[in-house]
Amino acid sequence: MGERLDSIPFSGIMRIRDMMFGIENPYRLDQGDVGFDAPDAVKTGMSRAIAENRTHYVQTVGIPRLRELIVDKLQNQNKIPIESVDDVMVTNGGIHGLYVIFHGLLEPGDEVLCADPMWPSTRGTIQSAQGVPVDCPLYESRRWRPDLDELESKVTQKTRAILLNSPQNPTGGVLTKADIERIAAIAQERDLWVISDEAYEDIVFDGERHVSIASLPGMYDRTISVYTFSKSYAMTGLRLGYFAINDPVIADRIKKVLYYTCSNTGTVVQWGGVGGLEGAKNQVEAYRVELQARRDLFYEGIRELGSGVLSGEPPKGAFYAFLRIDPAWRPPGSAGTPESLSWALVEYLIKEGRIGCVPGADFGTHGEGYIRLAFGKNRDELTGALASMKALLNV
Ligand SMILES: Cc1ncc(COP(=O)(O)O)c(C=O)c1O
Repeated sequence: MGERLDSIPFSGIMRIRDMMFGIENPYRLDQGDVGFDAPDAVKTGMSRAIAENRTHYVQTVGIPRLRELIVDKLQNQNKIPIESVDDVMVTNGGIHGLYVIFHGLLEPGDEVLCADPMWPSTRGTIQSAQGVPVDCPLYESRRWRPDLDELESKVTQKTRAILLNSPQNPTGGVLTKADIERIAAIAQERDLWVISDEAYEDIVFDGERHVSIASLPGMYDRTISVYTFSKSYAMTGLRLGYFAINDPVIADRIKKVLYYTCSNTGTVVQWGGVGGLEGAKNQVEAYRVELQARRDLFYEGIRELGSGVLSGEPPKGAFYAFLRIDPAWRPPGSAGTPESLSWALVEYLIKEGRIGCVPGADFGTHGEGYIRLAFGKNRDELTGALASMKALLNV
């Protein structure tokens, strides 16, 4: 790889993280994390694994018990017609899953249709695998969904895959069943892979239902569905994810990348995952309900700001408020138009209000003019950030 990596940018999220470490008593709404802690069933699974000295090398693709439980979950919850544990590989979180998949799947120059705005880590991962991300805009007017005629028009001879992420980071957009059916039809007609990043599958609101594209007829053969325990089980720092693939040739290539990047995912954490899948389903639902309440609390606060600097509809999934910035807003005392409105507001909110947030520009060209605030943090952190924002923006 070497020099090639010089052309791949660092994510702005890293720059913000560094800025936040210089701030006293910050409101960390920049982080894609929840304020909950991992369920007791997860912790018990890990403590037992430590007590039983389950601390040695294990199978590269994951321990058998965890893979069995994952197959059960994919069949029953995601309705994916998976028949064998051999289709499942366990990873160090979703980001690692995406890394090994793109490195095992892509040839240099292969194009991947991606959303714009999108989570920058996936874009960087595709580029590091010598793939070419091709941006398909998401539109606020369509509740942050793509125009699928436009998406289809971007398919070329070089297109290898469509990347889906629903519910989506950073917008919280959720694809409809009809969208997913249409995308499946495009993939089948144009012989494309679908990489379906379902990191936020359990976090959907207002009666919305998550649909896994691999559950549609014929789609499991051309879809790699990627999951993580990070968001559903509040396990962001523990690093556990998995994916399912039904193509033995590609699976073997990916398995090599998996082996060469980690040998195996940490055993203790895998036993935590077993605990979670065996005993914390109710907790996942309880987190979802609380996240919906936090979303409502947060948007109520945004409406109460009154000044109109920030606006937007509450999302139907994930835990991000992707808010439009009034184009007329300027940092107090500044002359002229800032190079990036979203960076200008983010720097102002961090420095003057201690509020961590991420500029839309960091997620792609279509993200400029917006900022992302994560509302999964605890209620007092949210209300503190809202009060700070009110003092700054209501002038
Ligand atoms: C869209 C999306 N996919 C995947 C992930 C992967 O998360 P992790 O690596 O913690 O499993 C994230 C994390 O923020 C995400 O936002």
